[in-house]
Amino acid sequence: MSAEIWQEVPLAPPDSIFKLTAAYKEDKFKDKVNLGVGAYRDDNSKPWVLPVVKKATSILLNDETLDHEYLPITGLAEYTSAAAKLILGADSPAVKAGRVSSVQTISGTGANHLGALFLSRFYQFNGKKQVFLSNPTWINHYAILRNVGIEPVEYPYYDPKTIGLDFEGFINSLKSAPERSVFLIHACAHNPTGVDPTQEQWKAIAEVIKEKKHYSFFDSAYQGFASGDLDKDAWAVRYFVEQGLPLLVCQSFAKNAGLYGERVGALHIVPPDAETANRVKSQLSVLQRSEISNPPAHGARLVSLILNDAGLFEEWKRDIRTMAGRIIDMRNELHRQLTEVLHTPGSWDHILQQIGMFSFTGLNPAQSQKLIDEAHIYLTQNGRISMAGLNSHNVEYVARSIDGVVRG
Ligand SMILES: Cc1ncc(COP(=O)(O)O)c(C=O)c1O
Repeated sequence: MSAEIWQEVPLAPPDSIFKLTAAYKEDKFKDKVNLGVGAYRDDNSKPWVLPVVKKATSILLNDETLDHEYLPITGLAEYTSAAAKLILGADSPAVKAGRVSSVQTISGTGANHLGALFLSRFYQFNGKKQVFLSNPTWINHYAILRNVGIEPVEYPYYDPKTIGLDFEGFINSLKSAPERSVFLIHACAHNPTGVDPTQEQWKAIAEVIKEKKHYSFFDSAYQGFASGDLDKDAWAVRYFVEQGLPLLVCQSFAKNAGLYGERVGALHIVPPDAETANRVKSQLSVLQRSEISNPPAHGARLVSLILNDAGLFEEWKRDIRTMAGRIIDMRNELHRQLTEVLHTPGSWDHILQQIGMFSFTGLNPAQSQKLIDEAHIYLTQNGRISMAGLNSHNVEYVARSIDGVVRG
C-alpha cells in the first residue's frame, strides 16, 4: 500500500460528548456522576428498556408472518402514517387532506439530514443557501447542514443574563431575516438549554413567520419526554400547521421510546395540497434510495405496533410519564437542595422552568471544569447537565458540589 494516499487527511478531533463519556468511564472514583449523556437513566443510573417495548418485542418474536425482506424505500407505511398522526394530531387538517409526505428515516439525525438534503435540492432560497439555527443548538445541526451545502447562520435564542429565552432577540431576527428564510426550530425541550417559548410566545413567533413567509424546519426529538404528555409537547408544531404555515418536522423515537440504537425516525413534509405532497414524496424517495436504499425494519415494526394498538399505546403513555416524571422530580429535588438546603448564591428557578432532558445550569466553563476535575461530575463545558443523570442517590452530592463551585 502506498503510504502517501491518505497523507493529506487531517486527524479530526473526537466528538465532545463521546470524549466526555470515555473520561467518565475511565474515572475510578466511586461516586462519579455522568451528567453529559443525552439518554434516559433510571434511578440506579441504568438504561431503561420500556415495558411496552419489551411486550412489543415479544409479540414480534412470536409473529411467524414476519420475514427479513426489504421495507419499501420510504419505510413501513403503517409506521409512517401513525407517526405523522402522533406529531401532527389524529385530527390534523393536513393529515385529513392527505398532504403530508412522510418518510421513515435513520432516527432524528437521519430525518434532519434528509430534510436538509431535500431543502438543499429543492427549496427556492431567497439569496444565500442558508438555514437559521438557534444559538445555541444541538451541535450536530451545523454539520448536518454543511454536509448538504447549506450554510448555518445563528439567531439569538438563549439569554445568559436571565438563563431563559431571548424572546426579543428571536423575534427581531425573524423580522430582519430575508423573506422566505428557513428557521430550524426545536419543537419542544430545546437542546441544549431546556428553554422553550410559552404558548403566547409561540403565537407571536408564528405571526412573524407568517408575515415574512419563512419556512419552519421543526426538529422534534423529545415529544412526550418533555412534559410527559405527547399532545402538549406537539402543541407548537400543530399550532403552526393550523395557521397554514409551510413546514417540515423531523421526528425521533430514540428518547420517548428508549429506542436509541434502533434508529427509528421519520421526516414529515407538509405541503399545501395532496398533489404537491405526492411530488415531494417522490423526490424524497429518490434521495433516500441513493443513500440507504430502504430503512431498517425492526424498530419501525416495534413503534408501529405500539402506535397502532390502543392497549399498547396506553401502556407507552404510562412509560413516558414514568420517564418524564422522574426527570421532573429530579428538577424539583435539585432546586430544593440548592435553595432550601444549601442556600446557594443566585437564583435557581430556571432549573424548574426549563424542560426536558437538559438544563442549562448557568455554570461557566471554569466552574464546569472544576466539577469534572474535583467532584468527578461530568458535564459539558457550557454548563449543560442531563437531568437523566441525576437520581435519588446522587442528587444531594451534585447539589453540594455545585454549591461548592459557585461559592468558589
Ligand atoms: C435536538 C435533537 N435533534 C435530533 C436528535 C437526534 O437524535 P437521534 O438521531 O438519536 O434520534 C437529538 C439527539 O440528541 C437532538 O437532541
